[in-house]
Amino acid sequence: MYIENSRKIHLARRPEGMPVAEDFEIVTESVAELKDGEVLVKNLWMSVDPYMRGRMIDRASYIEPFKVGSVLEGGAIGEIVESRNPAFPEGAKVSSMNGWREYFIADGQGLQLLPETGAPVQSFLGVLGMPGMTAYTGLLKIGELKEGDNVFVSAASGAVGAIVCQIAKLKGCYVAGSVGSDEKAEYLKSLGVDAVVNYKTSTDLQADIAKACPKGVDVYFENVGGAHLEAVLNQMNEYGRIAVCGMIDQYNATAPVPGPANLSLLIIKKLKMQGFIVFDHWDGYPAFVQQMGEWLQQGKINARETVYEGIASAPDAFMGLFTGKNTGKMLVKLG
Ligand SMILES: NC(=O)c1ccc[n+]([C@@H]2O[C@H](COP(=O)([O-])OP(=O)(O)OC[C@H]3O[C@@H](n4cnc5c(N)ncnc54)[C@H](OP(=O)(O)O)[C@@H]3O)[C@@H](O)[C@H]2O)c1
Repeated sequence: MYIENSRKIHLARRPEGMPVAEDFEIVTESVAELKDGEVLVKNLWMSVDPYMRGRMIDRASYIEPFKVGSVLEGGAIGEIVESRNPAFPEGAKVSSMNGWREYFIADGQGLQLLPETGAPVQSFLGVLGMPGMTAYTGLLKIGELKEGDNVFVSAASGAVGAIVCQIAKLKGCYVAGSVGSDEKAEYLKSLGVDAVVNYKTSTDLQADIAKACPKGVDVYFENVGGAHLEAVLNQMNEYGRIAVCGMIDQYNATAPVPGPANLSLLIIKKLKMQGFIVFDHWDGYPAFVQQMGEWLQQGKINARETVYEGIASAPDAFMGLFTGKNTGKMLVKLG
């Protein structure tokens, strides 16, 4: 099958501060005929994720930076529309890191066949994929969650945060979180979250977090950093754990960001603070999918999605992550 006008999105230049439309470019390519062993994949869904902002900076990190003038990469779910590889029959659904494009040819490397779970395929970019696994691993393994713990979650209505909140509730914990709108706060309350702080309307974040956590915080699931970290540190209970998942407050910073002034509380309160990258824990993925699949079937987890339509909307969806346009997992529907 010859595809003449397959669209993809290039990084046009490295963003300075908050990304803008001019940092991205839509490019059209033709996708040629297959050779033996190859498959043609039509992407159906693609993921946009905050960590991609870090890859737009030219610096050494746990993952290679994106190249200017090259197609962006990200999680995607696609369908095999033509196959010359018996391991990937036509019609099969696959996940890959070849998002930000409509079609691509692969030799099977980097493609994973999706298991039959009954869940919508795009769940493998959200609750059953990397964000869900991040929530599960960060809370249970890094945060060493125990029944009855008092938990605080920042960016609590996002792809990772909303799943963290719900797992913590399933484990019998008191859960409070912070979000950027009253609608998001209502959503979290509908999930059973005990207290929610709107950090955008709060005039005293420290006091509002203290009020939301009357028994202090045993586990802080950190997605934001900055003022949030300083405020929650003050509320941590002795021997508390801070699972540092992300610091989205700094991803668009144009100058070095000062650390919290009260970091010595780590000593005084005997706290453990650990960053993690979910891919280092991927050996736990089969057990996670089994457990999360059960919770979903039992209706115990709500997996909200915010969906943008068409590949041209991907830059807007990505930029929207930094202005709070999503509740739950931010996705782009293709095709
Ligand atoms: N360590 C890992 O392996 C790993 C894996 C996945 C994700 N992460 C990290 O986990 C965090 C959440 O990721 P996600 O995919 O679930 O994204 P997400 O929470 O679905 O989307 C980002 C959300 O962050 C909030 N936000 C944006 N800028 C903010 C700011 N300056 N201060 C406070 N809140 C802000 C917005 O919600 P509001 O309306 O509430 O502001 C926005 O909707 C990110 O920091 C990400 O980098 C880490």
